Parts: sequence; C-alpha cells; structure tokens
Amino acid sequence: MKKIRIAVLVSGGGTNLQAIIDAQGSVIRSGEVVLVISNNENAYALERAKQANIKTAVITKKAYGAAFETEISKALEENKIELIVLAGFMSILSKDFTSRYDHRILNIHPSLIPSFCGEGFYGLKVHEAALSKGVKVTGATVHYVNEIPDGGEIIAQKAVTVQDGDTPEVLQRRVMEEAEWVIFPQAVEQVAKELGMRNEE
Ligand code: GRF
Repeated sequence: MKKIRIAVLVSGGGTNLQAIIDAQGSVIRSGEVVLVISNNENAYALERAKQANIKTAVITKKAYGAAFETEISKALEENKIELIVLAGFMSILSKDFTSRYDHRILNIHPSLIPSFCGEGFYGLKVHEAALSKGVKVTGATVHYVNEIPDGGEIIAQKAVTVQDGDTPEVLQRRVMEEAEWVIFPQAVEQVAKELGMRNEE
C-alpha cells in the first residue's frame, strides 16, 4: 500500500515530532512524514526535521499576515499532503482551513479532554490548572481538529498519575513521556492506515 503523505506543523521544541520520526518504520508503517512546517523560524523542531532529512518550510504570520493560512495550504498542496499532524503548533486554524481537511488533521493536547482544554490552555498552563484543581489523574488526548480549540472528535487518550509534590514542569514531562510520545505515533498510524485503506477502495 502507498504510504500516506504526512505534514507535521510545529512551533517549538518538537519532542512530539521526534517521537513520530522515531516511530517511522516501526509503529508508523502506513504513512511517512514528508514535510515539516513551522510558524516560528527559531523552532528547534526544524533542526530535528533537518537531521531526519525531512523537507522544512517556515511560514510565519509576521511574513505572510492575512495570507498565513493560504501559504500553509499552498505548501500542503504542492507536497500532496494527505494528513496533517499538529505537534505543538501554537496557532489556531480557521474553520475555512479545518473544514477543507475534515478528519485529516490531528492534534495532541496534554490533558484528558474535556478537562483543562480550549482557548488559553496551552503549554505549562494546562498542568498548572490540573495541579491547582488537585486532580489525581491527568494525561493526554489525541483528537481530530475542527474550528473549536481542542473540540474535535477524540481518537486516543492515556491517563497519567499526578504525584505528591509535582510541579507543572515535572508533570508536563511525565505526561509527555508516559502518554504523548506513546499515543501520538499510534494515533498517526491508526488514521494513516484508515486513509490508506480508503485510497485503495
Ligand atoms: C506538548 O505538550 C503538546 O501536548 C502540546 O504542545 C507541546 C509541544 O511540545 N500541544 P513539543 O514541541 O512536541 O516538544
């Protein structure tokens, strides 16, 4: 079966991108990351992509203004992308964009949705909120992306235990290691496999 062409959109460190790259050929067999787009020219994720010989593009709001999404769409079309993976991509996509890629955009969120999600819940803020609520269990969620932040259909979730004395930073790291880096590659494979089967029909 032909591999699904995947683009990963990033803004930062790219540890989830790395987990996806490392899973290629093992967990991820039905797709291949052929493009990494960053909206931040200084994102370390770009370095990770280059080291893995993956094509990169930098598309910033500063450079493209109102044409930001159009420019992303152009890059996706030029590279014949079939599946978009948001891995720490810090920009909310419009309904116009998400509806064109219905059930073809995945995102990872570092909590068990519907807890601690939606607008304003990103990065350490998610874990700060979980700790101040005093939850004993948190985790990560992979979901499809629609126009509502963290509002699309859930694909996978994994729970992580909160421990006494956790700081937001410690909890963030545990959620990444025990949940995000595990379920994200698995969900990418699941969706790529489904898309591949649909292509064969
Ligand atoms: C992760 O915590 C992810 O859940 C969230 O943004 C962070 C990205 O980290 N959406 P990285 O760039 O993958 O290291």
